[in-house]
Amino acid sequence: MMPLKGMRDLFEPELARWRFAESHFRALALSFGFGEVRTPYLEETALFARSLGEKTAVVGKEMYSFLDRKGLSISLRPEGTAPVVRAAVEAGLLAQNPVVRLFYIGPMFRYERPQKGRQRQFHQMGIEVFGPASPAVDCEGIAFGEAYFASVGLKGRTTLLLNTIGCGTCRPAYLEKLKSALAALQEGLCADCRERSRENPLRVFDCKVESCRPHAETLPKIADAVCAPCRDHFEAVKTGLARLGIAYRLDPRLVRGLDYYTRTAFEWRAEGLGSQDAIAGGGRYDRLTSALGGPDTPALGFALGMERLAIALEAAAVSLPTSSSRVTILPLGEGAQVEALALRQKICAALSPLSPAPLPRGERGKTVAITVNLSGSGLKTQLRHANKEGANFALILGDNEIAAREVVLKNLQSGLQETHPLDPIAPLLEALAPRGPHC
Ligand code: HAM
Repeated sequence: MMPLKGMRDLFEPELARWRFAESHFRALALSFGFGEVRTPYLEETALFARSLGEKTAVVGKEMYSFLDRKGLSISLRPEGTAPVVRAAVEAGLLAQNPVVRLFYIGPMFRYERPQKGRQRQFHQMGIEVFGPASPAVDCEGIAFGEAYFASVGLKGRTTLLLNTIGCGTCRPAYLEKLKSALAALQEGLCADCRERSRENPLRVFDCKVESCRPHAETLPKIADAVCAPCRDHFEAVKTGLARLGIAYRLDPRLVRGLDYYTRTAFEWRAEGLGSQDAIAGGGRYDRLTSALGGPDTPALGFALGMERLAIALEAAAVSLPTSSSRVTILPLGEGAQVEALALRQKICAALSPLSPAPLPRGERGKTVAITVNLSGSGLKTQLRHANKEGANFALILGDNEIAAREVVLKNLQSGLQETHPLDPIAPLLEALAPRGPHC
């Protein structure tokens, strides 16, 4: 049976790119002082309706919502911010700490029309910072994104778009202005935009219908209509980014598709993605924590789409790190198979950074990928398989070697063979993982 439309089974080698992307994200987030958070995939529908906005495409058309057995309306999470805010409020984190930095990685669900880079089950990696209202927090969030793209080899292949969308003080007046501008344009707008212009006019800027675009261009710009504190905040963000050497392009139409944002809104577009080129997006959301019953806590975050990142990594031909050594143990005869497992156990224990074994310092923590061939085939077939797997070394273990506490090491590139004792094991390790770069 096929998976559901817009949902995919994932395999190697694509998942090697995902692991690379996730491990870099996790490592960078931890190094910036973020702690991980994992929230349930299912939440009450009301959480998303209240935070993202009833009139947004995500809540209005794209959520997987259904009634549970007791008649409660629940939804698969379409994004991570609202659940993280709910969780942080519920755990009392915001009341206890002046700054809370959280990151998450996981699947999200939106019933959209699938295409390249757009899935119904997709995966996000995101960060959220709660606490200070300072523009420096906006700069830190954006700097984190830039540092991440650089760390995975996408430096220079993403473009940062920036806008301000005002706050509860200045946005209502702007929305009135926008409504009257839209009233004059009704004829040329699509049916959805005609409704949006009455109910939630900012969402007109999110419209993907080609014929609405030229009209959106003529509308008043929100950045020109924000109040003095919002303008000062935005100026400070821009100055901060300049100080950090982060290039951006101002985009007056960037309003993001969710209602919770205030002030700074930003998005990264990446090369090689086609029409779905928004690889990451986020912004400030200073009113959401209080709207969800928590303390009044300014916040900022962004999320990155894993599917789009994987496409961008492939388009950029980013080479993934491999193990410093790929070894396969080839047992000859059934009796040798468990001995081969024991040999792997011994090598892994000796290479572990925690090993008490008297290894030279440089040998500790080296990564050696070790497979054991349990096919029961003869040596020739096993060697053929080892070459196909891309192994650098084969360790051949037959009855004679087991009796003599030895192993035959075959270098699969040069074809050279040598016999090594199993005790002590250090010379064998030195041969398997010679000094040099390792991941
Ligand atoms: P978003 O812009 O809706 O923001 O999604 C963030 C990223 O998720 C997008 O830039 C895109 O890469 C990816 N994405 C969204 N929908 C899909 C899809 N159907 N298929 C594949 N990838 C997709 C948010 O979700 C906010 N929660 C971000 C945020 C965090 N704002 C503040 N903190």
